[in-house]
Amino acid sequence: MKKLIVTSIIAFSIYACSNPGSENKDGSSQSKVNKELTADGNPSYDPKRGEGKFENIELPATLDVAMAQSGKQIYEVKCASCHKLSDERLVGPGWKGVSTKHKPEWIMNFITNPDAMIDQDPELQAQLEICLVRMPDQNLSDDDARHLLEFMRQNDGVQ
Ligand code: HEC
Repeated sequence: MKKLIVTSIIAFSIYACSNPGSENKDGSSQSKVNKELTADGNPSYDPKRGEGKFENIELPATLDVAMAQSGKQIYEVKCASCHKLSDERLVGPGWKGVSTKHKPEWIMNFITNPDAMIDQDPELQAQLEICLVRMPDQNLSDDDARHLLEFMRQNDGVQ
Protein backbone atom coordinates (compact mmCIF):
# COMPACT_ATOMS: atom_id res chain seq x y z
CA MET A 1 0.00 0.00 0.00
CA LYS A 2 2.70 2.43 1.03
CA LYS A 3 4.70 1.50 -2.05
CA LEU A 4 1.70 2.19 -4.22
CA ILE A 5 1.23 5.63 -2.69
CA VAL A 6 4.91 6.45 -3.08
CA THR A 7 4.81 5.33 -6.71
CA SER A 8 1.84 7.51 -7.41
CA ILE A 9 3.55 10.49 -5.76
CA ILE A 10 6.57 9.93 -8.00
CA ALA A 11 4.32 9.74 -11.04
CA PHE A 12 2.53 12.89 -9.94
CA SER A 13 5.79 14.75 -9.32
CA ILE A 14 7.20 13.84 -12.71
CA TYR A 15 3.97 15.01 -14.27
CA ALA A 16 4.04 18.23 -12.24
CA CYS A 17 7.68 18.91 -13.11
CA SER A 18 7.19 18.47 -16.81
CA ASN A 19 4.20 20.82 -16.65
CA PRO A 20 5.30 23.51 -14.22
CA GLY A 21 2.41 25.78 -15.16
CA SER A 22 -0.28 23.25 -14.35
CA GLU A 23 0.61 22.05 -10.88
CA ASN A 24 -1.70 24.36 -8.93
CA LYS A 25 -4.79 23.10 -10.64
CA ASP A 26 -4.19 19.75 -9.07
CA GLY A 27 -2.52 20.89 -5.86
CA SER A 28 -5.28 19.43 -3.71
CA SER A 29 -4.51 15.89 -4.80
CA GLN A 30 -0.85 16.31 -3.77
CA SER A 31 -1.73 17.36 -0.22
CA LYS A 32 -4.25 14.56 0.06
CA VAL A 33 -1.55 12.05 -0.81
CA ASN A 34 0.74 13.52 1.83
CA LYS A 35 -1.96 13.23 4.46
CA GLU A 36 -2.46 9.59 3.62
CA LEU A 37 1.25 8.99 3.99
CA THR A 38 1.23 10.59 7.40
CA ALA A 39 -1.73 8.50 8.47
CA ASP A 40 0.12 5.46 7.23
CA GLY A 41 2.40 5.15 10.23
CA ASN A 42 4.52 8.30 10.42
CA PRO A 43 2.65 11.05 12.22
CA SER A 44 5.82 12.63 13.59
CA TYR A 45 8.24 13.37 10.77
CA ASP A 46 11.23 15.12 12.29
CA PRO A 47 12.61 17.68 9.79
CA LYS A 48 15.91 17.90 11.71
CA ARG A 49 16.67 14.20 11.65
CA GLY A 50 14.78 13.18 8.51
CA GLU A 51 13.55 9.65 8.10
CA GLY A 52 15.77 6.59 8.06
CA LYS A 53 17.93 4.53 10.34
CA PHE A 54 20.60 7.09 11.26
CA GLU A 55 20.36 8.83 14.59
CA ASN A 56 22.85 11.03 16.48
CA ILE A 57 25.89 10.64 14.25
CA GLU A 58 28.99 11.64 16.22
CA LEU A 59 31.47 13.50 14.06
CA PRO A 60 35.19 13.82 14.85
CA ALA A 61 36.36 17.42 15.31
CA THR A 62 39.03 16.99 12.65
CA LEU A 63 38.65 15.63 9.16
CA ASP A 64 39.15 11.94 8.43
CA VAL A 65 41.16 12.48 5.27
CA ALA A 66 40.94 8.90 3.99
CA MET A 67 37.15 8.90 4.34
CA ALA A 68 36.88 12.26 2.60
CA GLN A 69 39.01 10.99 -0.28
CA SER A 70 36.82 7.95 -0.72
CA GLY A 71 33.77 10.24 -0.53
CA LYS A 72 35.20 12.42 -3.28
CA GLN A 73 35.54 9.41 -5.57
CA ILE A 74 31.91 8.43 -4.96
CA TYR A 75 30.87 12.06 -5.53
CA GLU A 76 32.59 12.11 -8.91
CA VAL A 77 30.83 8.94 -10.07
CA LYS A 78 27.38 9.32 -8.54
CA CYS A 79 26.70 12.94 -7.61
CA ALA A 80 28.78 15.37 -9.70
CA SER A 81 26.41 15.15 -12.67
CA CYS A 82 23.82 17.04 -10.57
CA HIS A 83 25.70 18.79 -7.74
CA LYS A 84 28.45 21.39 -7.91
CA LEU A 85 30.72 22.00 -4.91
CA SER A 86 30.03 25.74 -4.99
CA ASP A 87 26.71 27.32 -4.06
CA GLU A 88 25.56 27.24 -7.68
CA ARG A 89 22.69 24.98 -8.70
CA LEU A 90 23.24 22.46 -11.46
CA VAL A 91 20.34 19.96 -11.44
CA GLY A 92 20.30 19.87 -7.64
CA PRO A 93 21.54 22.56 -5.20
CA GLY A 94 25.28 23.25 -4.89
CA TRP A 95 26.91 21.65 -1.86
CA LYS A 96 28.62 24.71 -0.37
CA GLY A 97 27.44 24.89 3.25
CA VAL A 98 25.34 21.74 3.06
CA SER A 99 27.17 20.04 5.95
CA THR A 100 26.46 22.94 8.30
CA LYS A 101 22.92 23.58 7.11
CA HIS A 102 21.73 20.05 7.94
CA LYS A 103 22.47 17.71 10.82
CA PRO A 104 24.71 14.76 9.89
CA GLU A 105 21.89 12.26 10.49
CA TRP A 106 19.59 14.23 8.15
CA ILE A 107 22.21 14.04 5.38
CA MET A 108 22.90 10.33 5.88
CA ASN A 109 19.21 9.49 6.07
CA PHE A 110 18.40 11.55 2.99
CA ILE A 111 21.13 10.25 0.70
CA THR A 112 20.39 6.60 1.59
CA ASN A 113 16.59 7.06 1.60
CA PRO A 114 15.71 10.01 -0.65
CA ASP A 115 12.22 9.02 -1.77
CA ALA A 116 10.61 8.88 1.65
CA MET A 117 12.19 12.17 2.66
CA ILE A 118 11.34 14.10 -0.50
CA ASP A 119 7.70 13.19 0.16
CA GLN A 120 7.72 14.63 3.68
CA ASP A 121 10.53 17.10 4.23
CA PRO A 122 9.47 20.76 3.86
CA GLU A 123 12.87 21.91 2.64
CA LEU A 124 13.19 19.11 0.08
CA GLN A 125 9.71 19.86 -1.18
CA ALA A 126 10.72 23.49 -1.66
CA GLN A 127 13.88 22.43 -3.51
CA LEU A 128 11.86 20.09 -5.70
CA GLU A 129 9.73 23.02 -6.80
CA ILE A 130 12.86 24.85 -7.94
CA CYS A 131 14.81 21.91 -9.35
CA LEU A 132 11.81 20.13 -10.92
CA VAL A 133 13.67 16.83 -10.58
CA ARG A 134 13.50 14.29 -7.77
CA MET A 135 16.86 13.21 -6.53
CA PRO A 136 17.17 9.52 -7.49
CA ASP A 137 18.12 6.79 -5.03
CA GLN A 138 21.80 6.09 -5.73
CA ASN A 139 21.94 2.79 -3.81
CA LEU A 140 24.57 4.00 -1.37
CA SER A 141 25.91 1.71 1.33
CA ASP A 142 26.15 3.06 4.90
CA ASP A 143 29.90 3.49 4.40
CA ASP A 144 29.40 5.34 1.10
CA ALA A 145 27.04 7.73 2.86
CA ARG A 146 29.46 8.34 5.73
CA HIS A 147 32.35 8.94 3.32
CA LEU A 148 30.29 11.38 1.27
CA LEU A 149 29.41 13.27 4.45
CA GLU A 150 33.12 13.55 5.28
CA PHE A 151 33.78 14.89 1.78
CA MET A 152 31.00 17.47 2.25
CA ARG A 153 32.65 18.54 5.52
CA GLN A 154 35.97 18.91 3.73
CA ASN A 155 34.27 21.00 1.06
CA ASP A 156 32.93 23.21 3.88
CA GLY A 157 36.39 23.78 5.30
CA VAL A 158 36.79 21.14 8.07
CA GLN A 159 40.45 20.18 8.31
C1 HEC B 1 19.81 13.34 -11.14
C2 HEC B 1 20.35 14.40 -10.33
C3 HEC B 1 20.91 14.10 -8.95
C4 HEC B 1 21.90 13.20 -8.60
C5 HEC B 1 22.66 12.22 -9.49
C6 HEC B 1 22.13 13.42 -7.18
N1 HEC B 1 21.30 14.39 -6.70
FE1 HEC B 1 21.25 15.12 -4.80
N2 HEC B 1 19.71 16.34 -5.28
C7 HEC B 1 19.14 16.43 -6.53
C8 HEC B 1 18.00 17.33 -6.47
C9 HEC B 1 17.10 17.70 -7.63
C10 HEC B 1 17.92 17.78 -5.13
C11 HEC B 1 16.87 18.72 -4.52
C12 HEC B 1 15.79 17.89 -3.84
C13 HEC B 1 14.90 17.20 -4.84
O1 HEC B 1 14.28 17.89 -5.68
O2 HEC B 1 14.85 15.95 -4.85
C14 HEC B 1 19.03 17.15 -4.42
C15 HEC B 1 19.33 17.41 -3.09
C16 HEC B 1 20.42 16.89 -2.42
C17 HEC B 1 20.83 17.24 -1.07
C18 HEC B 1 20.19 18.31 -0.18
C19 HEC B 1 20.86 19.63 -0.55
C20 HEC B 1 20.46 20.81 0.30
O3 HEC B 1 21.02 21.89 0.05
O4 HEC B 1 19.63 20.69 1.21
C21 HEC B 1 21.91 16.46 -0.77
C22 HEC B 1 22.69 16.46 0.54
C23 HEC B 1 22.17 15.62 -1.91
N3 HEC B 1 21.26 15.92 -2.90
C24 HEC B 1 23.18 14.68 -1.97
C25 HEC B 1 23.44 13.87 -3.09
C26 HEC B 1 24.46 12.83 -3.12
C27 HEC B 1 25.34 12.44 -1.95
C28 HEC B 1 24.45 12.30 -4.38
C29 HEC B 1 25.33 11.22 -4.94
C30 HEC B 1 25.39 9.98 -4.22
C31 HEC B 1 23.41 12.99 -5.13
N4 HEC B 1 22.83 13.94 -4.31
C32 HEC B 1 23.09 12.73 -6.46
C33 HEC B 1 19.56 15.81 -7.68
C34 HEC B 1 20.52 14.82 -7.75
